[in-house]
Amino acid sequence: MDQAGMLREMKTNVMPAAIRQKRHNGNTRVIAVTSGKGGVGKTNITANFAYILSKMGKRTLLLDADVGLANIDVILGITPKYNLHHVLSGEKNLSEAVVEGPGGIKILPSASGVQEMAELSKGQKFTLLEELDGLDEAFDFMLIDTAAGIADNVIYFNMAAKEIIVVASPEPTSLTDAYALIKVLYQGYAAKRFTLLVNMAKNSNEADGVYTRLSNATNHFLDLPIEYLGYIPHDQNVPKAVRKQKLLSEVFPDSKASKSMSEVVEKLCRKQPENHENGTIKFFDRSIIDKNN
Ligand SMILES: Nc1ncnc2c1ncn2[C@@H]1O[C@H](COP(=O)(O)OP(=O)(O)OP(=O)(O)O)[C@@H](O)[C@H]1O
Ligand SMILES: [Mg+2]
Repeated sequence: MDQAGMLREMKTNVMPAAIRQKRHNGNTRVIAVTSGKGGVGKTNITANFAYILSKMGKRTLLLDADVGLANIDVILGITPKYNLHHVLSGEKNLSEAVVEGPGGIKILPSASGVQEMAELSKGQKFTLLEELDGLDEAFDFMLIDTAAGIADNVIYFNMAAKEIIVVASPEPTSLTDAYALIKVLYQGYAAKRFTLLVNMAKNSNEADGVYTRLSNATNHFLDLPIEYLGYIPHDQNVPKAVRKQKLLSEVFPDSKASKSMSEVVEKLCRKQPENHENGTIKFFDRSIIDKNN
């Protein structure tokens, strides 16, 4: 084949695949938002972060990974026709289940009250990763709202993500549970990069105290430093927005909590994600499924 012919061949066959891989490799920041203790604000934080990112022009997918007890649809006041359950059962493909939310966020809703979703099988985990990797649309961010605790599904989604934001409130139990979750992910699954976000703090002093106590514990007992992403103050506008089934940043953009969320999101955007040591991995590293079973 002459040189022009080779170039044509590359353009038609090789280039699209290469471009697709580039789009899906490393360019999407996959971030899990998680916590040891429940009710610390993960769902509100993840949904508002997705909205703020979207408003900044970042293409964002919000994945409700509290499978079995989904909440994202409730706080957004949407009633999606299909959800993750339909995708995993093979009834729908992922793009059919993804819906558009406020500010142009793309949302993959989950199912509530579906017992079989509470424990995803190995096959379902593979299907989900395949479907996410196969999405035609390119995303800058994929935010994953996990359930609380150290159940199998929570570990799976945290390990699937490249970055983990641990949310903790100033309550002592939230702190000990955050430590327990980090310990399990670090010792059992070799997760290394944790970022702490303190929610519902009275002020920056109280939030700094939470970070100091948690990082002292991880440094001392696990020899593992953790990063501090910032804090969101306790703000009555958060439950107010929840009752309206609207996003805080949409209905109360000038509230203290909403402004802090925007600052944290800006910081998150400035933070350079770790380079992927293996260029062949797509969104996710499938080896986590074996480790997680
Ligand atoms: N900064 C805040 N100030 C005041 N209330 C807040 C704040 N953040 C969250 N809340 C309230 O805390 C409650 C729990 O929030 P959310 O559902 O987001 O937590 P979660 O961590 O996702 O819970 P779960 O573990 O059950 O999934 C909600 O009623 C919400 O209004
Ligand atoms: Mg939640």
